[in-house]
Formats: sequence, structure tokens, C-alpha cells
Amino acid sequence: MSALESGGPEETRRLGEALGRAAEAGDVVLLSGELGAGKTVFVQGIARGLGFEAPVSSKSFVLLGEYAGRLTLYHADLYRLDSPEEVQELALDEISRDGVLVVEWPERGDLVLPEERLLLRFEVTGLETRRIAVEATGKRALALAEALGG
Ligand SMILES: Nc1ncnc2c1ncn2[C@@H]1O[C@H](COP(=O)(O)OP(=O)(O)OP(=O)(O)O)[C@@H](O)[C@H]1O
Ligand SMILES: [Mg+2]
Repeated sequence: MSALESGGPEETRRLGEALGRAAEAGDVVLLSGELGAGKTVFVQGIARGLGFEAPVSSKSFVLLGEYAGRLTLYHADLYRLDSPEEVQELALDEISRDGVLVVEWPERGDLVLPEERLLLRFEVTGLETRRIAVEATGKRALALAEALGG
């Protein structure tokens, strides 16, 4: 496991962008970390790396946002999830096959996800600084971690 350091939101966005450029259909990325840690900022970067320019919503009532870039980006935020059943209804395991699936607050749902995935743990280390621990499981996740420089 390795860790990345970010000195500000734009740096986090650039990290996400590098991941977005390297992403392939079927890739799964889990983002954990406290409120305001920078998970959605990172997803904005992924969208940019996939060639999608419009803003990514951080509204917590949006359970699943779809953004069509080079590949479809599926952005799930499970923070406001009331029951594990709700997450089953999202059928994230199926979705993850034909696009890039990015999940914020994965620990909130009883997720059925491919075992191979990249887990990024965001930690607030200062007003503008974040540490992002990188945990890759599987070949694709390792490739994404490499693209991040982690
Ligand atoms: N290095 C950094 N990387 C990312 N965001 C940063 C950084 N420094 C400061 N910030 C600020 O922290 C906030 C991160 O917000 P963001 O919505 O991305 O958090 P989140 O992890 O998605 O939270 P939530 O769990 O509520 O969805 C933004 O206001 C951003 O400007
Ligand atoms: Mg968020």
C-alpha cells in the first residue's frame, strides 16, 4: 500500500484526472474518508480525465449520477442511503461492467462489488492538505494506482 499527498483541491482534481485517463470499462474505484475529505473533488477530476467537462454533483441525495465521457462514469454516493436494500436496487455490480464505477461511502452499503477494485482512503491532514492511501486489488487496480503515481 502506498499513499499520495495533495496540497489543494486542484491537485486532487489532477490526480483524479490521471485516473480518468487510464480508466477502462469495468474498473471499480471506492472512495472512503470523512465528510469534506475531497472524494467528490477527486471524482470531478476523473470526469475531466474521461473527457467530461460539466460539473459532477456533490448533492448527497443523488444516489447515482451518470456522466458520458470516453466511457460512462457512474458515480454513486451512499452517504444518505437508508437501507442496504436500496443499494441492491442500484445494481452496482452490473453497472460496473460497462463503465467506470466510483463509489463514495462504500462502507454505508452492503455492497456486492467485484473483488478487484481500487480503494482510496482520504484523510484530512490540514486545511488544504489531504493524504490519500492507495490499496489496489487486482491487475486493473494496480494499473490505476500506477497512473496515480501511487
Ligand atoms: N487537497 C484538497 N483536496 C480536495 N479537497 C480539498 C483539498 N483542500 C481543501 N479541499 C476542500 O475540501 C472540500 C472537499 O469537498 P468534497 O465534496 O470533495 O468532499 P467529500 O469527501 O466528497 O465529502 P462528502 O463525504 O460530504 O461527500 C472542498 O471544499 C475542497 O475545496
Ligand atoms: Mg462527496
